[in-house]
Amino acid sequence: MSEKNIIQPVRWLDDTGRIFVSPGAAADIPGMVDIIDQTKLPHRLERLHLTDVTAVCGAIQRLSVRGAPAIGCAAALGLAACAQRFRTADPEAFLVQLHRTADTIAAERPTAVNLAWAIRRTVAAVRPGTIREMQQCLLDEALTILADDRARCAAIGQHGMSLLKPGMGVLTHCNAGALATGGCGTALAPIYTAWQAGCALHVFSDETRPLLQGSRLTAWELTAAGIPVTTICDSMAAQVMREGKIQLVIVGADRVAANGDTANKIGTYQLAIAARYHRIPFYVALPESTIDRTIPTGDAIPIEQRPADEIAHCPGAAIYNPAFDVTPHELITGFITENGIFSAIP
Ligand code: MRU
Repeated sequence: MSEKNIIQPVRWLDDTGRIFVSPGAAADIPGMVDIIDQTKLPHRLERLHLTDVTAVCGAIQRLSVRGAPAIGCAAALGLAACAQRFRTADPEAFLVQLHRTADTIAAERPTAVNLAWAIRRTVAAVRPGTIREMQQCLLDEALTILADDRARCAAIGQHGMSLLKPGMGVLTHCNAGALATGGCGTALAPIYTAWQAGCALHVFSDETRPLLQGSRLTAWELTAAGIPVTTICDSMAAQVMREGKIQLVIVGADRVAANGDTANKIGTYQLAIAARYHRIPFYVALPESTIDRTIPTGDAIPIEQRPADEIAHCPGAAIYNPAFDVTPHELITGFITENGIFSAIP
């Protein structure tokens, strides 16, 4: 693959050839969040400009922006963008509307803790002042959250690359890459970093039913970066492990309880069981903002139920469609965070 075909994982070219970061704040249009519409990938690279609470909530709910850290960044930027448009000259009324909007956005998806965390952090950054000053506080904090996330991803990549050796087959689930974060990803960060350092590895990407984040998004971004990737159906993972093609599993996380129990995309738990059976190390990569120390175990993690039409084919059949599962901490070999690799939650 020639160098000009290798794109940086955190930057994308839109149809007009402009480089942008997703999610990001459109520098040229105040009060706007700029995201890639992930529902259109891999067929079309389209941008969405979000300017009000309906648009921000809709984008989060239908997974136009998705992945725990990216949801957090988009929510923070979205709140700052909405606050540019509040129609009031009264600072008290501005704060009332800010809290109401913050609560609405934070309630959009319940499992990824980064959403509520980023909203709380953005609101807490507001210092009393004029409306203009408060709007600036919100935007500054949202951009700091985005910049922090980018730095955390880079650090996860640096720490995690020590686990990767040339020739390895690495299995991942869902999409925990550049599309899912403000940087180069969590689970994919060590892969990008090792690859850029010359470590020739091969990625196996679960399809990730029902919304195909693996076969649509992980396969797309790794292919764009020139990294060899093979898509498999979720149900093939144990067999591919048995065939000796997988030496390491790395997944992302939506919320990790204080004891290390980890909520991630539905299907992660069964991967961890299969990996344990085949004696394959199973790592979770996450920024520490994904740890929820207020809950002791995974039993307390709220699991989002998605609409029936995502999996319904036969009229009359009942539908059960949880978007996430919880992998017990004892099945997890280690956690790769921005601060290092740990066998238990630091
Ligand atoms: O429903 P999604 O696509 O938002 O689920 C995403 C995941 O489960 C990811 O693995 C997780 O958020 C980590 S992203 C760095």
